[in-house]
Amino acid sequence: MSLVVKGGRIIDVSGERAGDVAVEDGVIVAIGGDLSGDQVLDAEGCVVAPGLVDLHAHLRQPGQEEAETVESGSRCAVLGGFTAVVAMPNTVPAVDSAAAVREVQELARTALCEVRPAGAITVGRAGERLAPLAEMAELGVRIFTDDGRGVQDSQLMRRAMEYASGLDPSVVLAQHCEDEALCGGGHMHEGAWSSRLGLAGQPVEAEELMVMRDIALARLTGARVHLQHLSTAGSVRLVAEAKAAGLLLSAEATPHHFTLTDKCCASYDPVYKVNPPLRTAADVAAIKTGLGDGTIDAIATDHAPHTQEAKEQPFDLAPPGLLGLETALALALTELRLPLKSVLGLLSWGPAAIAGLGKTQGAVAEGRVANLCVIDPAATWTVDPATSASRSRNTPFAGRTLTGRIRHTVYRGEAVVVDAEPQR
Ligand code: DOR
Repeated sequence: MSLVVKGGRIIDVSGERAGDVAVEDGVIVAIGGDLSGDQVLDAEGCVVAPGLVDLHAHLRQPGQEEAETVESGSRCAVLGGFTAVVAMPNTVPAVDSAAAVREVQELARTALCEVRPAGAITVGRAGERLAPLAEMAELGVRIFTDDGRGVQDSQLMRRAMEYASGLDPSVVLAQHCEDEALCGGGHMHEGAWSSRLGLAGQPVEAEELMVMRDIALARLTGARVHLQHLSTAGSVRLVAEAKAAGLLLSAEATPHHFTLTDKCCASYDPVYKVNPPLRTAADVAAIKTGLGDGTIDAIATDHAPHTQEAKEQPFDLAPPGLLGLETALALALTELRLPLKSVLGLLSWGPAAIAGLGKTQGAVAEGRVANLCVIDPAATWTVDPATSASRSRNTPFAGRTLTGRIRHTVYRGEAVVVDAEPQR
């Protein structure tokens, strides 16, 4: 079966050109004018780009299938233009062993996109003993993180970095930067709004202390370190300084941290409860600047589905997290005011390189695996949680009108989304 994506403007890391993209047996076989195939995807007026790559999604399997599964999460992913997703290991049980990695890899075989399990840094994400990183790396795991929690013990984190440095050079230690003692059980950003609302807050310093510590440990050990979902102006400044000093460091930020502020919590609606918390307008501006100037390397969704039952609790009891896969690209296109190619760098080839997925993701070229998304940059649409492919509904963007929409997604040569509709 052959497929042709017809009449689009192709944008990837190598530049921009007009042309059809012909695909056979899952591989791009030709790029040029007037190509034909058994199935034709119309890309007139659209941009044909490499599929997007999410470094940070919670697919909740095993253990919390009522909120999401690898299959439903992968359907959200392809609707959002993603052809690869790194699945966080804070499942039940945690992905902290070769057996657990194999289980997710098995589930991933029938997913609508590439799903790569991240492995936990510590056993059970408890922060006490190192997990068997080498065993998991043998199976292809490239990102290790205790996400949902940061590794609190500096000595253990140092050991993890030293140990990881001896594994495959593409292995990355990713950190959820949060000093738990300093957070003191806070439910939102600590500032004027938390005082007014009477909710315990998390100071920016709780994130920045761990960013500082991990930069220091990366310097000490030479390990590759990736800082997850940065949310504060101070974190952006610290990363910029560390990169200027030549450290091997990468960082991500989420769409909600460049679009929403702590003021949203004034409604006490737990849909705005997320970790790290929504910050101030000045932090949002700094995240946007960091995304624009290369300090932050990737936009990652932190797609965190929670059931309605869980999210309908009072703000201080509800779990943190919100949906992200279906809205990430449109939020970036609508809010960042960056050239489309820069947005694609942050959502496709940038994260593909960090995740060690450069072979299968991040390029539109002859001989490459056909992982593509077709974007209509002018289309406007309104976010409607009722139509989400997720098993959960916790999006704070309901009712928001966005510009830029995924029209088609091709995964390994199969059109998994056509005209914004999933095909399976
Ligand atoms: O808001 C969040 N939700 N932040 C995290 O770090 C974990 C995530 C989850 O698993 O729900």
